[in-house]
Parts: sequence; structure tokens; C-alpha cells
Amino acid sequence: MPQDAISLLKQQHKSTQETLMALTNTTERGIKIRHELLAKLRSELTQHMLLEEEIFYPAFKAAVERKKDKRLYYEAHEEHKAAKAVLKDLARADASSVAFGAKAKVLKELIEHHVEEEENEMFPRAREAFTKQELVELAERMQARKQAIENGRAWDRVASSSHPAE
Ligand SMILES: [Fe+2]
Ligand SMILES: [Fe+2]
Repeated sequence: MPQDAISLLKQQHKSTQETLMALTNTTERGIKIRHELLAKLRSELTQHMLLEEEIFYPAFKAAVERKKDKRLYYEAHEEHKAAKAVLKDLARADASSVAFGAKAKVLKELIEHHVEEEENEMFPRAREAFTKQELVELAERMQARKQAIENGRAWDRVASSSHPAE
């Protein structure tokens, strides 16, 4: 069976969390490594959130019936918004400062919480709401979108942050 959307997203969670862990283990003396890890994190996290917002979340919202499940969609969007704000703040911070480490730690905690909600609540519901084939198709759409981003196309859409559809 080819990869499904949930395993694809979980793989990205793992990688992003590893980068965040490495970043929070740096010190004010490790300016170069902080810059490198921050660049890696920005690309991983931005791309992951974009794929969820453009493809996975709307499909999830359309597939679930219960109000409780639709709420997971809106919560996830709010958490992305919060994560983006901290990420932006972190990117502007002086890598030789103690504040940089504090911002990285807050972002790590935010992402940990968000990933936990997705993996423990949203993804199990998605497994029920979608067929295996639909999950594979969603993965294919996300892979194609990822490829398009990496090929340097569609940056216009990347730049405009998406909002939850009412
Ligand atoms: Fe997310
Ligand atoms: Fe996620």
C-alpha cells in the first residue's frame, strides 16, 4: 500500500520536532547552528502547515459530521496561527540572545501540544471518516503540492496565509 496522508503528516511531525529539539538544545554561543536550525525549521514547519491548511484540514472538515469534530478543524487553525506568530518572532530575534532560546522553547511546547491533538484526536477521527484509498489520494495531493513548492512554483500562494473557510 502506498503512503497515506496520516503517515506522511506524522513523518513531518517527527522531523519538525527533532529540529525543534535540536534548536532548544543550542546556546547563545551557537549562533551559526541556531541560524542553520532556524532555517531548517522555517522551511519544514511552513511547508507542513501549508499542506495541512490547503489540503488535509479542508478535506477533514468536509468529511466529518459532528460539531465536536469540526471544532478540531478550527482549533488546529488557531494553533497554526499562534505557531506562525512565535515563529516569526523567533526569526527576528537575535540568535546570540537568551530571549532567542526562550522563544524557541515556547514554540517547541506549542508544536508539541498541537501535534498531540492532531495525532490523538484529529487523525484517529480522519481514519474513521476517510477510506484507505482517500487517505492515499490525499497523500498524493500533498506530495504533488510539496513538489510544486520545492520547484519554486506557486510561491504566491505560499505567501498568502490561508484562513479557515466558514
Ligand atoms: Fe497542524
Ligand atoms: Fe500537523
